[in-house]
Amino acid sequence: KPGWPGIIEAYADRVPIPAGAKVVTLGEGNTPLLPAPHLSGLTGAEVYLKVEGANPTGSFKDRGMTVAITHALASGLKAVICASTGNTSASAAAYAARAGLTCAVLVPQGKIAMGKLAQAVLHGARILQVDGNFDDCLELARKTAADHPVTLVNSVNPVRLVGQRTAAYEVCDVLGRAPDIHCLPVGNAGNITAYWAGYTGYAADKIVDNTPRMFGFQAAGAAPLVDGEPVKEPETIATAIRIGSPASWEGAVQARNASGGLFEKVTDKQILAAYRLLASKEGVFVEPSSATSVAGLLLTAEDGRLPKGSTVVCTVTGHGLKDPATALEGNVEVEPLAVDPNAVAAALDLP
Ligand code: F0G
Repeated sequence: KPGWPGIIEAYADRVPIPAGAKVVTLGEGNTPLLPAPHLSGLTGAEVYLKVEGANPTGSFKDRGMTVAITHALASGLKAVICASTGNTSASAAAYAARAGLTCAVLVPQGKIAMGKLAQAVLHGARILQVDGNFDDCLELARKTAADHPVTLVNSVNPVRLVGQRTAAYEVCDVLGRAPDIHCLPVGNAGNITAYWAGYTGYAADKIVDNTPRMFGFQAAGAAPLVDGEPVKEPETIATAIRIGSPASWEGAVQARNASGGLFEKVTDKQILAAYRLLASKEGVFVEPSSATSVAGLLLTAEDGRLPKGSTVVCTVTGHGLKDPATALEGNVEVEPLAVDPNAVAAALDLP
């Protein structure tokens, strides 16, 4: 069989599926663990980026979706539904298309990045815009799935998080150990819960003999875990994590407490600075929410909470092409310059 088979086959002993089920995969997982020399220089730590934008639909959601859609197909139900800030819906739409299932998505009106909407459209999802935020969408999706023959594929579906654990396995498989610290953006809190379960699972089976401290970062306008209470009207430029009432609240708190980690918030300004730095210094184009982990890394390095010399992995969760509007906004200086065909070299100041 050519190439990487996707996470269900690659981690068959850890990602169970129903007997006889047909695996629905797009070849997700096996994403780069990329050394980040510029960030390492800035922080005095050995920093790696887990580049999840390299997944088939451009985000980490594919790791959970291959499992959720494989289960949904095996169940015999013909439709799946999810609430989403954009990436879950793009992923659900793609895997459902692959499986021949109908996919319905509930998204907050006007608050999802254009690339993600384009994906859901082209993969043929039924898209419903809700006059409300992600938390309202999730409540509606849960209600609909409870009352009708349709599978909920949000991360409240536990098999999603079993699939997402594979990112932690991959990190350990490459490093030969767990990192000292793992930094993540936190929205609905499923991913931090999944990583922690992955790391502790590997440690329990003695595949590694350490676990990382889990550092979870939220946008300042949507930081319920940092503030210790739900946020009614979450607001941030990082629309993927514009969430006020995370479904996996307890899992995230457990991950922080058991790992000796922390939650912290970063401003939209800090997020955008990290977003530009990743692109311009590391060559890695991520969506704004993904830069939250790096904004948090820089914050804790500055205030002394990031021990020098530690091995740190920052997950960058989604691809920059998801949200071209944010990339071009406020960047007047990168307006393409009109050039005379005879004057290219002069326009570039080439000798
Ligand atoms: N980064 C990106 C790019 C995301 O899309 C999300 C969540 C997160 C981080 C946060 O992960 O929710 O597990 O804490 N996006 C969900 C969605 C909510 O609908 O696509 P989390």
